[in-house]
Formats: sequence, structure tokens, C-alpha cells
Amino acid sequence: MKIEGKIAVVTGAASGIGQATCLKLAEEGIRAIAAVDRSEGVVDFCRIINDGFARQILYPYAGDVVDGEFRERVFADVESKFDAVQICVPAAGITRDRLAVKVSIGDGKIKLDLYSEDEFRRVMNINLVAPIYWALRTVGSMAMSRKRAGLGPWDPDERVQGGIVLIGSVSSAGNRGQISYATAKAGLEGAQATLSIEAIYHGVRCAIIHPGFTDTPMVRAMGEDMINERIIPNTQLKRLIRPEEIAEAIVFMLKNSSVSGALWADAGWHPTM
Ligand SMILES: NC(=O)c1ccc[n+]([C@@H]2O[C@H](COP(=O)([O-])OP(=O)(O)OC[C@H]3O[C@@H](n4cnc5c(N)ncnc54)[C@H](O)[C@@H]3O)[C@@H](O)[C@H]2O)c1
Repeated sequence: MKIEGKIAVVTGAASGIGQATCLKLAEEGIRAIAAVDRSEGVVDFCRIINDGFARQILYPYAGDVVDGEFRERVFADVESKFDAVQICVPAAGITRDRLAVKVSIGDGKIKLDLYSEDEFRRVMNINLVAPIYWALRTVGSMAMSRKRAGLGPWDPDERVQGGIVLIGSVSSAGNRGQISYATAKAGLEGAQATLSIEAIYHGVRCAIIHPGFTDTPMVRAMGEDMINERIIPNTQLKRLIRPEEIAEAIVFMLKNSSVSGALWADAGWHPTM
């Protein structure tokens, strides 16, 4: 699939993997990217990239990916400018790590302390529900555009027109302290498998990448001790993955029309208990 001339939505665009993906897509000649993030930093990022390419490629949208009205405003604005969104990389995400079950003793009593349900739901909303709905809206954008053009179900003789790459994680296979994050990332597998079947009707492929530990603010927030003692020794590369390496893999998945499933870009992650 050609990237040149396409229209994309990338969430989490103010940092890490989302930012690197915007840059890589711009280098590949994409026409426009709606760069979405709750951080106002997305505005400066877009200006710097647009200045560097001497044309407007990135369009900043600051807001919360969980907010359905905000999502609709972004898509309506992009569609009014460019007809349809063809590519979606919903990369916004958070971690809220803590052991699932803790027991302590205080005042002579044993106290049970479960992972907070509110935190669990927040992580699900941002890491599972939101990326799925940004992906569904992209499929909807393509479906409406095809309808306007009088096209029926996508035909293999047509060129594949759209692509979605969901951002999973090595943690989808389970990781200590990540009951909410791992659950959300594993859930994306089911969404990808279903969309992969349904969305091709509208000419859209859907895949999922499972990055290993990547050098972004999300991972740096874990602290140097955690990174040096618990993460790097458990990788083959003996270093964190660079965000550009994940961005390159995402763009490969979009470009290569035979890709329809999961790619593990995990630097040989093999955690010990
Ligand atoms: N860094 C890693 O090692 C790693 C590994 C596997 C998967 N991932 C996934 O990759 C994606 C990007 O992570 P990253 O490492 O680049 O993190 P990051 O913290 O550097 O960037 C995440 C971005 O998402 C934005 N964001 C968070 N919640 C938002 C919300 N509700 N609305 C709008 N924007 C929001 C943040 O402002 C931030 O700019 C995430 O889905 C993460 O789970 C990261």
C-alpha cells in the first residue's frame, strides 16, 4: 500500500512512539496527519515538523482520546478538509502499574488491598476502548467515502486503500505489576482479529504490533534501576528499543499489504519471574 498522498490519524502524537510514527509517515510522503494528544506539546511538535518539511503535513488536535465528542470533531474536521481518513495508529496510552493483590497487617488486623477498580477502568478506557473507537471511526470514514463514490464491497482487484496498526505490548502476554495494562493490550488482540475480518469489506487492513520496552517517557518513568536491573538484562539487544525502530515497523506493516496479523517487535524480550 502506498503511503504517499494518504491521510492519517495518529494519537499519542506528542511523545514517544506516536511522535516517531508521525515523523516516519511524513518522511514517506504522507499528505496529512491529524496529530492527536492531550498534551499541548503536540502543537509545538507539529510546527517543528511542518517547518522542517516546508509544508503543512501535521495538523495538531489537543484533547482526550477517551472523549467521543472530541474524536468526532477531529474526524469531521479532517473529512471536511480531505474527504476521508485512510490510516490510523492509535498510540496514546498510559501505565498504572501495581501488584494486583497486596496483604498487609495493621492494628492487629490483616488488610486486603486489591488493585483499584477506578484505575483499572481508566486504563481500559485509554488503552483499550479508545484505540478501538479511533480505529472504528477510521473504518467508518473509509466506508462513508466509498459509499459517496458509489463503491460496493472492496474487491481484490482494487488496491488496498486503508490501514490500521493497533499498539499492543509484550505485556499482553502477562507482566508483573501490570494487571490493567496487560489486560488492555491483550484485549486489543481480539479487536484486531475481528477488524481484520470485518474492515476489509471497506478496503481497510488491520494489524497489531507488540513492542518491547522502548525508550520513551513512559518507560523512563519506571526509573533507571528498574530499567537496568529488570528490563535490559531480559532482552537480547541489551538496550531499550528506539522509538524510530517501532515507527519503522509500523510503517512497514502499513505498506506491506500481506500483513494482517501481529508483529512482535520485542528485542528478544524473555522475562524471568
Ligand atoms: N514504550 C514502550 O516500551 C512501549 C512498549 C509497548 C507498547 N507501548 C505502547 O505504545 C504507545 C505509546 O507509548 P509511549 O511509550 O510512546 O508513551 P509516551 O508516554 O511517551 O506517549 C504517550 C502519549 O499518549 C498521550 N496520552 C496519554 N493518554 C492520553 C489521552 N487520554 N488522550 C490523549 N493523549 C493521551 C500522552 O500525552 C503522551 O504524549 C502506548 O499505547 C503504549 O502502551 C509502549
